[in-house]
Amino acid sequence: VNRATFDLKAHLAGRRAAVDRALDERLPPESGEFARLARACRYSVFAGGKRFRPALVLDCCGTAGGDPAKAMPAACAVEMLHTYSLIHDDLPAMDDDDLRRGKPSCHRAFDEATAILAGDALLALALETACECGLEVARTLARAAGPGCLVGGQMLDMLAERKAATLEEVDAIHDHKTADLIAASCRAGALVACGTEDDAVRTLEHYGRLLGHAFQIADDVLDVTSTPEELGKTPGKDAAKGKATYPALAGIDRAREKARELVDEAVALLGAFGGKAEPLEAVARFVVERES
Ligand code: IPE
Ligand code: IPE
Ligand code: MG
Ligand code: MG
Ligand code: MG
Repeated sequence: VNRATFDLKAHLAGRRAAVDRALDERLPPESGEFARLARACRYSVFAGGKRFRPALVLDCCGTAGGDPAKAMPAACAVEMLHTYSLIHDDLPAMDDDDLRRGKPSCHRAFDEATAILAGDALLALALETACECGLEVARTLARAAGPGCLVGGQMLDMLAERKAATLEEVDAIHDHKTADLIAASCRAGALVACGTEDDAVRTLEHYGRLLGHAFQIADDVLDVTSTPEELGKTPGKDAAKGKATYPALAGIDRAREKARELVDEAVALLGAFGGKAEPLEAVARFVVERES
């Protein structure tokens, strides 16, 4: 794979534009009786996310030999799920964050009740949208959002606040609050290509899990090292909240090293796909090279 010739920035920008068009078609209109709810949903979805998870859905579909366009409903569903999780994550009862994607968080721009309902709306719309890619894709994303995955991980994250956690406990939190949805994004894209669970699906899901762990460690590092302007969020919140994070337990240098190791391990899995995995290799590097 020739890393020098692959333009990751252009690739991600193209993915982002296509995903944003598809999301715009699927989100409710800002007029009519549900206008306020629709405005809150659209405000958070279009506040400027990286669209990392939808890119994974589409590129895993392509890498597994499918047509990425066929995975677009799953890509939209994942981004809706993710945005819902961010809206609720920022609520005063949870992380209590005022800044998200470079703008006031949903409950600050609207109000708490509207933010809760916008999250609920995006979660439901995500599952409806995922059904366009078939039962197995919908089941994959529903499970990833559920009590044994994302929501369960958020619960573990809350319970670990201001407690002396071990690295094993941090790994379990990361596995569920972050890696489950990222692994499910890869699985969903691969399922669209393969139709059923096979070696390609399993390999790409494993790639996603490793990447998910690296992604959350990188997020925790950026919380320590970045600025609000760069990050689009308030840095320093993890320490202020007494969160169990990799940098808090192992230090910044070890955290960075661990994230790089995980990305290397993820990239090594792509060997099975040859040149077709070029975008996924670049996307993996992005996880540890990003600055927001
Ligand atoms: C933030 O996710 C939440 C984590 C799981 C670390 P992203 O860093 O992907 O946020 P956006 O979508 O770009 O805003
Ligand atoms: C994100 O963890 C987990 C979610 C499922 C939203 P964080 O709480 O660290 O995410 P940020 O830093 O607020 O984006
Ligand atoms: Mg959180
Ligand atoms: Mg948070
Ligand atoms: Mg964070």
